[in-house]
Amino acid sequence: MNQSMWHTSSGSNAAHIQQLAVCFGLLLTTIFLIVLGIALLTLRRRHRGIEQEPLEGSHQPSPQTEDRLQTVVSVATGLTILILFGLTIASVSVGKIVSASVAPPASMTIQVTGTQWWWRVRYANDDPRLVLDTANEIHIPVGRPIAIRGNSDDVIHSFWVPSLQGKRDLIPGRTTLEWLQADRPGEYRGQCAEFCGLQHAHMAFWVVVEPPDRFKTWMDHQLQPSAEPVDDQTRHGRDIFLKKACILCHAIRGTDAAAQIGPDLTHFASRRTIAAGTLANNKGNLAGWIADPQTIKPGTRMATVPIQSAEMQPLIDYLESLK
Ligand code: CUA
Repeated sequence: MNQSMWHTSSGSNAAHIQQLAVCFGLLLTTIFLIVLGIALLTLRRRHRGIEQEPLEGSHQPSPQTEDRLQTVVSVATGLTILILFGLTIASVSVGKIVSASVAPPASMTIQVTGTQWWWRVRYANDDPRLVLDTANEIHIPVGRPIAIRGNSDDVIHSFWVPSLQGKRDLIPGRTTLEWLQADRPGEYRGQCAEFCGLQHAHMAFWVVVEPPDRFKTWMDHQLQPSAEPVDDQTRHGRDIFLKKACILCHAIRGTDAAAQIGPDLTHFASRRTIAAGTLANNKGNLAGWIADPQTIKPGTRMATVPIQSAEMQPLIDYLESLK
């Protein structure tokens, strides 16, 4: 099989699933074509038979033909059962491989919590100073198995990065464990794969796979408190943030904002998207999102906080300075 043609997965779990899908696809397409061929052949033969004996009544097969047909049907039935059995075994064993691939104990653990409609991401660590909270974007080092501990705050969500692993349901009150390993650097889109309400489709995230040194740089930076405002404009923006209802839901480490209801915004500007993959992260989109979240993502828990037009620019300047 041509490697470059089929190898679109970038994780070992995804590769197993892809191989299974390719096998299923090839086998079932072949069977479909054979059945189609037989049906067409039969139609043609029957058509010719009618042309040759147009006046004869209904065609009765001879006992020998009857016997032969019976054998053909029995063999086909037996083959079908065998193939279905084989496919079931293949599917179950891939399921086992994917769920049981065990990582070395030293690997990193990331807690992913699905919540309507975004992803809470926490890098767990025994040392509380090294615990990192972020949202909708997961950075991991390439080639290292990562443990994902998944759960849900409300309804059932499903954590899925098609290029890296299979879907894993996140169920309220239960912790599911799975392993994720990326074989090459890149940015991989993830998506909630279980219908979870109005904005299910806007519950995306990114997995950013980096070489270990770049990952470490990212991690060290993320563990820092938020950037201090460098000018009057951003300082004013921070004051607005801390004075408004924003502070009731969000945390920005290094300030008085410490609420855990919405996404942690400490390094908000380093993230690629706003509102779980709904919008690209830039000043224009951010202004639109803050001014009227319900139009952009109807049903979102993001509150519409009254912001005067003169306050908007400093506020978004401040938030976009949180690299
Ligand atoms: Cu969460 Cu669909």
